[in-house]
Amino acid sequence: MLSLHMAAKRDFGSFHSSNVQELINIPEKDYIPPLFPFEIPEYDFGSLDSLQFGKECREKCFMLECVKLSGKDIERQPLRFFDRELLPHLVYVTRSLSKFIGCDAQDVVLVTNATTAINTVVRSIKLKENDCIYILNVTYGAVKKLLRQVCTETGAVLQEEKVEFPVTGKQQIISLVKSTLKSGTKLAVFDHIPSNSPLILPIKEIIQVCHERNVPVLIDGAHALGSVPLNLRSLDADYYVSNAHKWFCCPKGAAFLYVRKDLQKNTRPLVISHGFGSGFNSEFIWAGASEGC
Ligand SMILES: Cc1ncc(COP(=O)(O)O)c(C=O)c1O
Repeated sequence: MLSLHMAAKRDFGSFHSSNVQELINIPEKDYIPPLFPFEIPEYDFGSLDSLQFGKECREKCFMLECVKLSGKDIERQPLRFFDRELLPHLVYVTRSLSKFIGCDAQDVVLVTNATTAINTVVRSIKLKENDCIYILNVTYGAVKKLLRQVCTETGAVLQEEKVEFPVTGKQQIISLVKSTLKSGTKLAVFDHIPSNSPLILPIKEIIQVCHERNVPVLIDGAHALGSVPLNLRSLDADYYVSNAHKWFCCPKGAAFLYVRKDLQKNTRPLVISHGFGSGFNSEFIWAGASEGC
C-alpha cells in the first residue's frame, strides 16, 4: 500500500509528501495509516465506570506521555517531520475524525480553533448592503464582534433575537426562530451549546426551520465535540465548527470546520499557502510552518 501513497502526485511545493487529496480519497479498505514513531497505548474503556479521578484516570484515559514523546520526536528531526510525516498524519486524523462525527473526510478540515473556523465561513460569504445575518443573544461574544465588524464593512444588518430565561423547553427556542427568521437571510449562526448559558440548543429542528426558508446555517459547536454525540450527516448543517481542545481533550490548537459539499468551492482559507488550488482538504491542511503544531 506504500506504493499507492508514493505513486500519488505531490502537490505541496517541495514537500516529499503524498498528495493530500488522494490520501483523503483512498477507500477505507485500501487505506494504511502512517506509522507512529512510538507505541500508542491501548485505552482501557472497559473499567471507566469505576475509574477514580487522579493518577489512574490520567494514565488510562489520556495520552499525555504520547504528546511529550511526539514533541521530542519532532524536535529531533524537524525537517523529516514537516517534509515527510506531518501531512500523512494530518490526513489520518482527518479520516479518523470524520468517522467519529459522521461525515465524509472530504467535507471536514482541521483548523487551529473555532474562532478561525467561524471567521473562515463568515469571510467567505459575500455580503452587501442590507443583507441580513441572524443570531440569538446567547451567541458567543467574539462571534458577535466578528459579525458586527463584517456588517460595518459591508452595510449588512445583524438581527439579534432575545432568548427569554428561564427557558421552558426546546419549543420556546424553535418558536422564536420560526417567528423571527426572514427568508432571504444570508446566514444564520447558532451556538450548539452557548458558553454562558446552561443550554443545548435544538439545532436539528432549528436547521430544518432555516432550510425551509432557504437560509444557510453555521453551527458553532465549540463545546460540542466530546460532550454530545455528533452526526453531521443527519444534522445537515451547511457549516459546523467545533473545538477538539475542549471536551475532546486534545492538545490546544485543534479544531475542525465542516462544510457542505456544494459550499466548499467558495469557502477558502484565511491563510493561503502550498495547498491552495489542490482541493478543499489540501487548501486548509498547511497554513505555513509551525501553525497548529
Ligand atoms: C460558543 C463558543 N464559540 C467559540 C469559542 C471560541 O473558541 P476558541 O477560543 O477555541 O477559538 C468558544 C470558546 O469558549 C465558545 O464557547
